[in-house]
Amino acid sequence: MNFAKQSMKEINKQFWAKQTITNSSMLGGYDEINNVDIQQSELFLLKNIQQFNTLLELGAGVGRISEQLFTKYFKEIHLVEREAKFVNESKRKLSKFNCQYYQMSVEEFEPSTHYDCIWIQWISMYLTDQDFCNMLSKFKKTPIVLKENISQQDYLYDEEDASITRSDRIYQNLIKQCGFQIMDQQFQEGLPNDIYKIKFYLLKHQEL
Ligand SMILES: C[S@@+](CC[C@H](N)C(=O)[O-])C[C@H]1O[C@@H](n2cnc3c(N)ncnc32)[C@H](O)[C@@H]1O
Repeated sequence: MNFAKQSMKEINKQFWAKQTITNSSMLGGYDEINNVDIQQSELFLLKNIQQFNTLLELGAGVGRISEQLFTKYFKEIHLVEREAKFVNESKRKLSKFNCQYYQMSVEEFEPSTHYDCIWIQWISMYLTDQDFCNMLSKFKKTPIVLKENISQQDYLYDEEDASITRSDRIYQNLIKQCGFQIMDQQFQEGLPNDIYKIKFYLLKHQEL
């Protein structure tokens, strides 16, 4: 689907520039879902990933997931995040760990090393279909965990943060169109009724 790409990006940047430097901002104010989010991510990660050397997190925010989950298992973590104030907070929180930071948009990021896992959570909603495919296509040799909000409608645009929430059907089609296969999938459990469903997808490129 076509959206006015440039203005979407500007609205989205302005939205994040105004948000507080907290885990709560990353959770859209739903602090109560943090624990179930991390717990089920841990189970999904351990079920599906075999090597635990280096992980790349795209759209890492303040390092909420890295701090609570990835640092338990991975020797090295690379974090891509566009907003400088969030990167600085990650650096402060994760100072004891072996981390590398890329303060840039995921669209600009070009991998220069091998990763054992790519984690993409709550960032695909800020990308057009084309940018989403471009992002995935940089990681043809690595298992990818995509975790994202899911709408009933095929595409649901939110003017406040210029996000696009997609249906499960649209994600399934898009993933296939980008040349990836879904190796595992499940819905997040334990969520309140008044928020979007959240879904995990394990992706592998046909070449892997
Ligand atoms: C909802 S938060 C999620 C953060 C983290 N994944 C988590 O679950 O805690 C979305 C993050 O994506 C960042 N972001 C949005 N668009 C981006 C882009 N195009 N490139 C890099 N980061 C982006 C925002 O600055 C924000 O920190």
